[in-house]
Amino acid sequence: MVDLLSADFAPPTFQLKSIHFTMARQFFVGGNFKMNGTKDSVTKIIEGLNSADLPSNVQVVIAPPAPYLGLAVEVNKQSTVAISAQNVYDKASGAYTGEISANQVLDLGATWTLTGHSERRTLIKESDEFIAEKTKFAIEQGLSVILCIGETLEERKAGITLDVCARQLDAVSKIISDWSKIVVAYEPVWAIGTGLAATPEDAQETHKGIRAHLAKTIGEQSETVQILYGGSVNGKNAPEFKDKVDVDGFLVGGASLKPEFVDIIRSRL
Ligand code: 13P
Repeated sequence: MVDLLSADFAPPTFQLKSIHFTMARQFFVGGNFKMNGTKDSVTKIIEGLNSADLPSNVQVVIAPPAPYLGLAVEVNKQSTVAISAQNVYDKASGAYTGEISANQVLDLGATWTLTGHSERRTLIKESDEFIAEKTKFAIEQGLSVILCIGETLEERKAGITLDVCARQLDAVSKIISDWSKIVVAYEPVWAIGTGLAATPEDAQETHKGIRAHLAKTIGEQSETVQILYGGSVNGKNAPEFKDKVDVDGFLVGGASLKPEFVDIIRSRL
């Protein structure tokens, strides 16, 4: 028996050398409706979400086309669902015919925007620098941003996936130091709308590389930045990404217009 009062007894001491706390990143599911829908169909999709049993710990952001943002804000009744624009300009107002103002998006009650979607990078020829400027301006006005990055099939074949992602991210980290309002969506162009999703292993490897690159450029914030995978995610393949530690959620296109979007939101249960 140990005599606690004896002079020989020394209570054990523990030295806490370095404890590394890994911040749990919240599971995040975005739905990008792209240029699809009508008043009626957007209303029906959101009513479907209203009546669904959504987990309280999953952050959901849906991005209907700009003309329906106000409608989406009005119809949405879920506190865990926020409404996002798909694009904004880098100025508040003025002679910019056809552009979308971050301030007007906020005025409608939406709180997010996408920037840098590959369809805008390739079809509208938006540059890394312009996307970075839009991202910066949107955040300054009060929006949160889903910043989309990703390589084309040619770039993938050339083995420069991470170089491309790094270049797209660097344009942003050059002018933004606080990344607390940014979620990164890695969407390989070859996987978008093709039915050919990246394998969970491939996605994890790229996400890990993206996070490692962010660690070099934005430091410890890289641990808290959510990195979403996008490209042919559906109700069936979403659970396969469950144990991939750097895949913090999804950005969903086609399937966000369908009832299976709820299965994707519930895929980590
Ligand atoms: P799909 O899910 O239709 O492949 O689209 C992905 C996407 O581009 C989301 O922004």
